[in-house]
Amino acid sequence: MSYKVAVVGATGVVGREIIETLESRNFPVGTLIPLASERSAGSTVEFKGETIPVQVLTKDSFVGVDFALFSAGASVSKEFAPIAAAAGAVAIDNTSYFRMHEDVPLVVPEVNAHAIKSHKGIIANPNCSTAQMVVPLKPLYDAYGIERLVIATYQSVSGSGKEAMQELEDQTRATLQGRPLPPKVYPHPIAFNLIPQIDSFLENGYTKEEIKMVNETKKILGDPSIRITATTVRVPVFIGHSEVVNVELKKPAKIEDVRNLIHNFPGVQVLDDPSKSIYPTPRDVAGKDDVYVGRIRQDISNPNAIELWIVADNLRKGAALNAVQIAEAMI
Ligand SMILES: NC(=O)c1ccc[n+]([C@@H]2O[C@H](COP(=O)([O-])OP(=O)(O)OC[C@H]3O[C@@H](n4cnc5c(N)ncnc54)[C@H](OP(=O)(O)O)[C@@H]3O)[C@@H](O)[C@H]2O)c1
Repeated sequence: MSYKVAVVGATGVVGREIIETLESRNFPVGTLIPLASERSAGSTVEFKGETIPVQVLTKDSFVGVDFALFSAGASVSKEFAPIAAAAGAVAIDNTSYFRMHEDVPLVVPEVNAHAIKSHKGIIANPNCSTAQMVVPLKPLYDAYGIERLVIATYQSVSGSGKEAMQELEDQTRATLQGRPLPPKVYPHPIAFNLIPQIDSFLENGYTKEEIKMVNETKKILGDPSIRITATTVRVPVFIGHSEVVNVELKKPAKIEDVRNLIHNFPGVQVLDDPSKSIYPTPRDVAGKDDVYVGRIRQDISNPNAIELWIVADNLRKGAALNAVQIAEAMI
């Protein structure tokens, strides 16, 4: 059995990672259809030793398609994911557009694969910072319950796509050569800097990215009662999002039990030996599938709370890998 798979946004950083992931995980692709905008006319992608021309996305792109994996921005998903679903495909969407729609499951397979069954043609992939966080949180949620999360993120520029990666590279070089290069993608220079703003601001002073983490975490864990606050920060790292998460459990937990629960959960690796300075860093996890957790410790200010340092490749677990895992779970 093999499947016809369309990748919408095939020339972007997530789209390219999806194609690599389909190949590396040996997903049974019969035909691959890479789709992008007119800007990409004439370009090609490599898949299993073949060079495949990129096609321009149209309403007719989904005839006979089994899975359509979208990463071309929210407006493209809004318009074309329903078209793909109506043509009989399952649309797996990486953008924010459908995530909070009531009739669209929001899925991280290790955490809530059961939600896939209720799909009506469209399944959403969470925001990258949420996807990596909920994996180690799930075993703690099941064992102790979660009262509150206080989150700070350190998110890489690949989370904003290929132009942002180019901007960090160009600005770093220009700064070292003493020629300032004005920002285009971000509101401030990202080279040698930190920007405490991801996406636009809402009236309550939070950014949209922060509120995505709040809402999506509740939806995936299926518990609207968890209290969550987040501050999301863009950092001059190419690949890999890092997060400090203070987890207030509903009851006290032994730190060794917490470590074991996280260690034994699928898709997570514990890297945690402070005596040897062992903990995950984005540089080390780039290109890897798992979510890495270190600095696991008791919060000295709250007997019910623990501190976690969670790092993952945002293009993999935060996007491409999670989308392909959803398709795998379906077949
Ligand atoms: N980067 C991440 O870590 C991450 C994680 C989760 C979700 N996402 C979401 O995934 C989406 C893409 O992100 P990215 O980082 O891959 O961006 P990117 O590198 O800028 O790539 C965007 C892709 O979308 C295509 N595209 C844009 N407008 C189009 C249109 N009108 N019709 C058809 N194709 C169009 C582009 O094609 P051309 O090359 O032809 O312009 C390109 O292939 C965004 O919605 C983002 O929020 C990203």
